[in-house]
Amino acid sequence: MTIAARAHGRVNLIGDHTDYSGGFVLPMTIDAFTAITGDVVVDGSWDLVSDHDPEPLRLESPIDDPSSILPEWGRYVAGVIAEIVATGRQVRGFHGRVDSNLPIGSGLSSSAALEVAVARIATIDEDIDPLELAEICRRAEHRASGVPCGIMDQLCIAAGEPNRPVLIDCTTLAIEHVALPPGARITYEFIAPRRLAGSEYATRVSEARRAADLIGPLRDADITTVESISDPTIRRRARHIVSENRRVLDFVAAMRAGDLSRMGQLMIESHRSMQFDYETSTEIMDEAVERTLREPGVLGARLTGGGFGGCVVTLRRDDV
Ligand code: GLA
Repeated sequence: MTIAARAHGRVNLIGDHTDYSGGFVLPMTIDAFTAITGDVVVDGSWDLVSDHDPEPLRLESPIDDPSSILPEWGRYVAGVIAEIVATGRQVRGFHGRVDSNLPIGSGLSSSAALEVAVARIATIDEDIDPLELAEICRRAEHRASGVPCGIMDQLCIAAGEPNRPVLIDCTTLAIEHVALPPGARITYEFIAPRRLAGSEYATRVSEARRAADLIGPLRDADITTVESISDPTIRRRARHIVSENRRVLDFVAAMRAGDLSRMGQLMIESHRSMQFDYETSTEIMDEAVERTLREPGVLGARLTGGGFGGCVVTLRRDDV
C-alpha cells in the first residue's frame, strides 16, 4: 500500500530560547517542506533514500541506539520509530523516499520536519493528536542528536496552519493561532550555516536551569529579581529569557491591535537581547540584521531559531 506524508519547516517570529524554560514562543510554518512517499511492508524494516544524500538508510527493529545510526539523518528516523514503539504502539515497516526543499542547518527546523513526517507515516492508521506527536518527536530529537531542545519546533510543525503564527505556552502547552494583521508580510533569508549549535545550545539550557534554580521559574520572574543574580553570565541569560517572554506577549498584543511598528520594534529588541545577553548571534548574523533593517518597508528583523547562524526573519510592510 503506497502512503505519503509531509511536514513543513518553521520560522520563529519572536520568542527564542524561551521554550525549554516553559515560556512563550510565536513560530509559524513555512511553505518549504519534507515529504515521504513509499510502501508499507510487513517485515518491520525501514528502507529510505533521501534526495539530500546518496547513502540509503536501512533500519531493522528493534532499534537500540538511534544516535549511532548512519547516515546521520537516519538518526531522526530511528529516534522517532524507537519513541513510537516506546509508547506501546506497533510500527509497521516502510520502504520509500524522502524529498525536502528545506535546507539542512538553516535554522528552519529541517530535523523536526523530518521527525514529524516520519511520525505521520508511522502512525498513519492511528488517531494521534498533534501534541502527542510533537512530544514523541521531541524525545526522538533528544535521542537522535543529544540536543536537549524544547517543544517549539515539533509542536509548531505538528499543529501549525500554513503561514499562520502560533502562540505556544510552553508550560501549559496550549496553542493559539494568531492572524498576521493586514499590511504585514513575513519573509526569511538564509544567511549562514549554523556553527557549534549543539554544544552551545546545551550550555544555554543548563545556564537557564541555573538561573531558575536561583530565582524560580523564569516565566514568572520579573526583571528586578533577575538583576539580583550575582553571576553576570547567568544574569544576562535570565534577562534575555524574562524579557523575551514579555516581548512575545507584547508582540501578540501588537498583532491584535494592528500595530506594525510596535511589532517591528519588539523584533529588533529581541535580536539585541540575543546579541548581547543570550549570545546566540554571530557577527555575520548581526550584520545581516542591520543590512535588512535598512531596506525600504522593513519594520523589524531578527535572528530566528537556535542561533549561531541560520536565518534572519523580517517583518515588512506588504505594499513595499
Ligand atoms: C531550536 C530548538 C527549539 C528552540 C530554538 C530556540 O530550534 O529546537 O526548541 O529552543 O532552538 O528558540
